[in-house]
Amino acid sequence: MGLHGHSLRQQLLLWLVIPLALLLVAGTLFSYWVALRSATITYDRALLDPALALAEHVDSEGGNTVLDLPKVAQDVLRIDSYDRIYFSVSRLNGELLAGQPEMPPPPPVVPVGHRTFYDGTVNAERVRIAALYVPQPNGPVVIQVAETMVKRNRLTREILIGETIPDLMVATMAMVLVWFGILRSLAPLERLRSEIAQRSARDLRPLDGSYAPTEVRPLVATLNDLLGDLRDALDAQQRFTANAAHQLRTPLAGLQTQVELALRQQASEPMLRSLHQLRSATVRAAHLANQLLALSRAEPGGHRPDALRALDLRSVAQDAASIWVPRALVKELDLGFELEAAPIVGDARLLRDLLDNLIENAIRYTPAGGSITVRTAIEADNAVLSVVDDGPGIPADQREQVFQRFYRVPGAIGDGSGLGLAIVQEITNVHAARVTIDDGPARRGTLIRVYFAKVPPGSGRVAARSPGPVSPVPQ
Ligand SMILES: Nc1ncnc2c1ncn2[C@@H]1O[C@H](COP(=O)(O)OP(=O)(O)OP(=O)(O)O)[C@@H](O)[C@H]1O
Ligand SMILES: [Mg+2]
Repeated sequence: MGLHGHSLRQQLLLWLVIPLALLLVAGTLFSYWVALRSATITYDRALLDPALALAEHVDSEGGNTVLDLPKVAQDVLRIDSYDRIYFSVSRLNGELLAGQPEMPPPPPVVPVGHRTFYDGTVNAERVRIAALYVPQPNGPVVIQVAETMVKRNRLTREILIGETIPDLMVATMAMVLVWFGILRSLAPLERLRSEIAQRSARDLRPLDGSYAPTEVRPLVATLNDLLGDLRDALDAQQRFTANAAHQLRTPLAGLQTQVELALRQQASEPMLRSLHQLRSATVRAAHLANQLLALSRAEPGGHRPDALRALDLRSVAQDAASIWVPRALVKELDLGFELEAAPIVGDARLLRDLLDNLIENAIRYTPAGGSITVRTAIEADNAVLSVVDDGPGIPADQREQVFQRFYRVPGAIGDGSGLGLAIVQEITNVHAARVTIDDGPARRGTLIRVYFAKVPPGSGRVAARSPGPVSPVPQ
């Protein structure tokens, strides 16, 4: 019955409900049959008593068979609190000697044991009849006693109800128990589902299947094998990028040196133009190789998860200042630092890559005369690193795309590779942090903030292994 794709719960219930219902019906039919039989046997026996009593009074006087019983006594025999009772005394040929004429004629053959019971109708009412055959000198007479079915039906009904209600209760109870059983047994599957659902694409650690029932373990094991294969494939890819970028750097550095040297030689105008172009192409290629390397460092497999240490964002920013302030000056930009203590658990190397990319962007895209501020601070439960400039800003509808690899806002100046913010994103992931882009103050420029989980002082190493998710972050 095409149960594929049904829920396990539905299947189990179906397999239970249908057989249980069939059992219940069969049980009820059987109970009915038993009830009917015992009611019939019990009351038939009782019905024979008045017949036997009447037989005592059948008399044959001079070839004439009569019922020698006063009318009052006959009426007493017919008294019953539930049913109407009829009787008749007749010959085998149906000739009525005494009693009610409505009584159906008796079977004309004398049965074994001289008594028999059968169903019939009197005055259009169903009755049960007991017939007693009494031998007499001038041929046997039949005494019939009939009674309506009120008592019998009532007893049948009572037995039936008495049997069926406990059955129904047991069946209902079984269903309820099974329902809860199913819910309970499916709970580990639900837990497994939520464990998988919480994963991001880069979290390929094996699933914890220890709580899963034996039947589900093979599934977990297979999933873990698959996750392992994926991890290996990603690692291989990451290693390849890292190696390629690394290999590229050395020849590019050599090329750059040679171009610089050539530029110092006497050369014709066109030759000089070519050399300048060659130089900027080389710088661009070297930058690309560096960005690729930084990206592969930030990817899972590119860094050691246990390299996360208790550190202060403030010192990361202080280290960066010495390199970036001179470069900002060259472009006539005012690069300022407003640093407060901001302890987190992190990878200093990666955090430096992150900050470098944010400052580099600010310097590249802010026109001369502008100002840039790097801040570290504690806000509520987060340690926040922010870089704000008063340059052209990033259009609101581009603020998600700029995090994609190789994406640059159309018309962006300079010749970046479009990897900077992808690197930033990757590094925030490593730290379970969150990055947001907003307008700068006075609705100009770009404000980029990275929210980290704040670390209470003195709890560094313990938390370092598992930087929990960032607590509620303002949008
Ligand atoms: N501070 C900023 N002001 C204005 N636009 C910015 C700023 N930072 C980033 N952008 C925009 O976002 C785009 C993506 O930035 P991203 O750093 O990822 O790449 P890139 O700077 O172009 O290249 P790369 O950083 O790899 O050299 C940039 O091309 C630029 O258009
Ligand atoms: Mg950039």
